[in-house]
Amino acid sequence: MNNNKGFIDALVGLQWGDEGKGKNIDELLSHGTYHGVARFQGGANAGHTLKHDDISFIGHIIPSGCLQKDIELYVGNGVVVDVVSLIKEITELKNIGFDVTPRLFISNRAKLVSYMHPFLDQAEEHYRSKGNAKIGTTAKGIGPAYADAKARRILLIGDILSIDFMEKEQNLKEFHMNLLDMYKKNYGFEYSLEKIEEARKRWLDSINELKKLEIKICDLSYLINQRLNAGKNILAEGAQGIMLDVDFGDYPNVTSSNTLPANICLGLGVSHTYLRNIYGVIKAYTTKVGGGDFPARITDENLEKLFQKAGNEFGATTGRPRMCGWLDLFALRYAIQLSGVNKIFINKADICLSERVKVVTEYKKGEETLQEFPLYLNQVTSVITEEIPGWGNANFGVKEKKDVSKELASYLKYIENKLEDLDVSIVSVGTGPNREYSFNWKD
Ligand code: IMP
Repeated sequence: MNNNKGFIDALVGLQWGDEGKGKNIDELLSHGTYHGVARFQGGANAGHTLKHDDISFIGHIIPSGCLQKDIELYVGNGVVVDVVSLIKEITELKNIGFDVTPRLFISNRAKLVSYMHPFLDQAEEHYRSKGNAKIGTTAKGIGPAYADAKARRILLIGDILSIDFMEKEQNLKEFHMNLLDMYKKNYGFEYSLEKIEEARKRWLDSINELKKLEIKICDLSYLINQRLNAGKNILAEGAQGIMLDVDFGDYPNVTSSNTLPANICLGLGVSHTYLRNIYGVIKAYTTKVGGGDFPARITDENLEKLFQKAGNEFGATTGRPRMCGWLDLFALRYAIQLSGVNKIFINKADICLSERVKVVTEYKKGEETLQEFPLYLNQVTSVITEEIPGWGNANFGVKEKKDVSKELASYLKYIENKLEDLDVSIVSVGTGPNREYSFNWKD
């Protein structure tokens, strides 16, 4: 490859989402290495919280570089765009002094989430609940939107600029109404036409607003390739986490997109030859929200509640409490292997709520210790754990390695040893929500 060209680094979550990726993206962008940051999958199911001194912002569609005024923001073709959320975020950012419109670029091939998709999401959950197998989606219409995309009937963001947009919208609405009626007739799903009309109005208003703004709806693949050719570097921002990947997670308790870095090329329209570092983010413990099994879950309810409280483990998108578990090294090794991560950020390492901390090292199916990640997590009957001393609350806000308590330092060394054969290193450790609350582990 021409050495004057730029490169793409990526940052992905290695657990079940909610690893605190927004903070790490923000930190990486502050080094001056990157020209822009790109979302390549997912939609408004994501929620990244950014804190800069006294400013706090929760983004769902707009990439996490929004609080850094010289960073371009890209929304790739692999994203399912909720326009209502997008306009709301743009307005909120403007109100706190960040007009992102001149530096926001959306792929004309990105998928347009319809106002009908959240209703269909609810209808599908209703249908699943009959068999007691709810996924516990974020109800943002993600599954139905990706299903429409694969079935080749979804509207694209570029369609909002075409003269037959309203006709296409009407046709798709008819199709969706037929589906809702099927769910009503066959499975007793109730919906309100009034609510649909309200949602449609909000949606059309947001689309009109989007057309008026200065945002570039463009061939984003062309634009990003131009930037790379000009020697500019891009950071790709993963949403959700590897364990929620539609192909490699605990199907069907997954999201509907590929969260793996392999999807960066397809979700942005770039060649794999540009990929350089893949950063992975974990929390010092694990959380999961939604349906399905969670082998590393803390069995002591009171302790789990303490983690929820101390870690503010409530969904940024839905407000749902997250299940809390110990660090799951078995799942983590699987996620690292799938994603090719070579550098790890560990967040919320200041949070330790018991004298001894457990770590899951193996999954068992009956008497068998599993070598491969199981097809379904409900096949796991028990886990093997190791225990190491906890580190209390002494590490909140630590900014330098020399100030870390010896117990936390040995926890970090323990993790490094366990992952040694995978060629990954821990680069930075978070000790609080603010961007400056972290320290470099590798000097
Ligand atoms: P969906 O993506 O809304 O369809 O939800 C599918 C599954 O992924 C559910 O278990 C959600 O709780 C989970 N999920 C989706 N997005 C996120 C996220 O950003 N963080 C954590 N879990 C998520």
